[in-house]
Amino acid sequence: MSSLLAAFLLLTSLAFTSASTVPLRPGFYADTCPEAEFIVKDVMWRNMMREPRSVASVMRFQFHDCFVNGCDASLLLDDTPNMLGEKLSLSNIDSLRSYEVIDEVKEELEKVCPGTVSCADIVIMAARDAVVLSGGPRWEVKLGRVDSLTASQEDSNNIMPSPRANASLLIDLFERFNLSVKDMVALSGSHSIGQGRCFSIVFRLYNQSGSGKPDPAIEPKYREKLNKLCPLGGDESVTGDLDATPTTFDNRYFKDLVAGRGFLNSDQTLHTFPETRKYVILFSIDQQAFFNAFVEGMIKMGDLQSGRPGEIRSNCRMANSRPVNVLLES
Ligand code: HEM
Ligand SMILES: *[C@@H]1O[C@H](CO)[C@@H](O)[C@H](O)[C@H]1NC(C)=O
Ligand SMILES: *[C@@H]1O[C@H](CO)[C@@H](O)[C@H](O)[C@H]1NC(C)=O
Ligand SMILES: *[C@@H]1O[C@H](CO)[C@@H](O)[C@H](O)[C@H]1NC(C)=O
Repeated sequence: MSSLLAAFLLLTSLAFTSASTVPLRPGFYADTCPEAEFIVKDVMWRNMMREPRSVASVMRFQFHDCFVNGCDASLLLDDTPNMLGEKLSLSNIDSLRSYEVIDEVKEELEKVCPGTVSCADIVIMAARDAVVLSGGPRWEVKLGRVDSLTASQEDSNNIMPSPRANASLLIDLFERFNLSVKDMVALSGSHSIGQGRCFSIVFRLYNQSGSGKPDPAIEPKYREKLNKLCPLGGDESVTGDLDATPTTFDNRYFKDLVAGRGFLNSDQTLHTFPETRKYVILFSIDQQAFFNAFVEGMIKMGDLQSGRPGEIRSNCRMANSRPVNVLLES
């Protein structure tokens, strides 16, 4: 029995890393999987060639993963009979997409260095590559994260912001993660790439804050265009561009906000509120200032960790199975 127990303890310590936060650093896989960063970028590039929007969709994963119990790939877990995961939460359902790009990266990595690179680190590398491949800044990512054993739909519902959010709500939310007003505005600049659904904007086109009227902050010509794209009672799964250059990572998003051409209410509100407007204006005239603040924000967001035990998943959609563990615990 004691040798069985010892075997269990050994297996457990091999399978999990400890519950404290793990130190993250650049070049974490330099010895164990030197090809890792190249493989991620290559798969991202191939997917961008197939479908330009896919890199924006993958980049969004970093935000939706890191804000809900740290950057631990909890987002990527499929539901199981005893766990409601995050994929069907209010902000994610019918909205997050391109999970298969992460699967493809993981498959390639498992061929070259099995059981080595976490799904959580793949999300972080892929988000950086999405920005680079779209013409934005490049930065060095810190790596060494572990993957969660579970996920929480409830936590995602409670944390992730609605497209209706105003700037003061967003300031408070980001502050809970030690992200400043400047970080928040710069990170919103990720909407320089990608698309959103009519579902996310019909309220502001036809009934902003229950007024029965459109959001007065929308520039009239742009509103005409959005009304055509998203007629009242129309198909709300139709998508529109988040800025005028949706495949190029640049400061056009901020120029559009200054002109009243923000797609989401949560975008346009950054220009409406004085606390955030100064950064919108700064980033609209100084692209380098945007890039610098964006990189700083992505690194800070990437540092968020839950401190819970983790593992290196072999399939990003499910926790590894543990027959020994189950046997001894029952
Ligand atoms: C500040 C609070 C934020 C809110 C309220 C917000 C909300 C949204 C919404 C509603 C959409 C469109 C979803 C749909 O209609 O299906 C969207 C798209 C997107 N978001 Fe955010 N977002 C925020 C911050 C961020 C951050 C910090 C990032 C990444 C660092 C990000 C990256 C993206 C990207 C890339 C897309 C386009 C995805 C695609 O084309 O598939 N967002 N966001
Ligand atoms: C911002 O939104 C919150 C939540 O909807 C609301 O309670 C608050 O009054 C709004 N703030 C301002 C200044 O409009
Ligand atoms: C924010 O910073 C404080 C003080 O350094 C720290 O105690 C807290 O854990 C941080 N919160 C998050 C979510 O990182
Ligand atoms: C607008 O929203 C308010 C509050 O949600 C609702 O009472 C009202 O019926 C809506 N008006 C229209 C025209 O849909």
